[in-house]
Amino acid sequence: EVWNPNGKYRVISTKAMPGTRWIRLLTDHDCRVEICTQKQTILSVEDIVALIGDKCDGVIGQLTEDWGEVLFSALSKAGGKAFSNMAVGYNNVDVNAATKYGVSVGNTPGVLTETTAELAASLSLAAARRIVEADEFMRAGLYDGWLPHLFVGNLLKGQTVGVIGAGRIGSAYARMMIEGFKMNLIYYDLYQATRLEKFVTGYGEFLKSNGELPVSWKRASSMEEVLREADVVRNLCLSISLHPILDKTTYHLINKNSLAKMKKEAILVNCSRGPVVDEVALVEHLKENPMFRVGLDVFEDEPYMKPGLADMKNAVVVPHIASASKWTREGMAALAALNVLGKIKGYPVWANPNN
Ligand code: DGY
Repeated sequence: EVWNPNGKYRVISTKAMPGTRWIRLLTDHDCRVEICTQKQTILSVEDIVALIGDKCDGVIGQLTEDWGEVLFSALSKAGGKAFSNMAVGYNNVDVNAATKYGVSVGNTPGVLTETTAELAASLSLAAARRIVEADEFMRAGLYDGWLPHLFVGNLLKGQTVGVIGAGRIGSAYARMMIEGFKMNLIYYDLYQATRLEKFVTGYGEFLKSNGELPVSWKRASSMEEVLREADVVRNLCLSISLHPILDKTTYHLINKNSLAKMKKEAILVNCSRGPVVDEVALVEHLKENPMFRVGLDVFEDEPYMKPGLADMKNAVVVPHIASASKWTREGMAALAALNVLGKIKGYPVWANPNN
């Protein structure tokens, strides 16, 4: 699909993206926009090299693509200087390779913060109140009357929410759980926590001045402390925008040992990247601890789940949709377009991890 065929700058989007704002941004600034219409969900490196061709000024790509040496070298040979992921995470992008070939990398922070936090909150609730199991039960025609023991789950109010990674998304999620459900908070972040600290302090003052019961919070000195004390743990490697989401320090951060430290009836939610959790160990843990629950938006070998996970009643699984609200996805597309346009035209680039 081609927009503004006579535009001076050739910009490719490897996928159709929501809304038209992103297209207008580019076509209004003399770009010819080509949208790949290939049917398969995940494009191979070869497919993308073919799309780039001999002349290409910029590419908007997706987190399912492997943006490394081969693609950045192809883009640079075609005269391209700009690439943007339509995602805040960029673990699929080799930023060093991009820098080597003189290509700027963009990502899309900010517009997905609340949407992602809302999905994390939804998974926490769905797991706590066994929503998916109960829905399946109804649809199977098994409900034959109210019973005192039917789908008894966990009350969130007064329990402790643990947040690992107190960046934009982790902090927004913490706020939702504290304000919405009056949960206590324990959080851990190696790099930053100011944003969350400011909120909890301010919120504490607000509760006090209104004569309401306080909620408690603390910054943990280790991740283990969070795992031991929390009833709901949201494991989110925030520091996505400042530190690679998937590096040596976050791979299998949640593994057999860390799972063993958690409360037997805890809930674990992951909306960051799949490999942060050792999924084989998680399946074992879910089998051995039927009261332990998990809400997963991401998986180790996406789009696949490790064997056994799909059979676990104590797991709620959704297909990487944390940022999937219309407003957010249109915003992500527009930011990705702005990143590419900024580099091509010398305007400010919204978000630029390799600058
Ligand atoms: C991201 O942006 O990194 C999410 O995984 C998809 O929105």
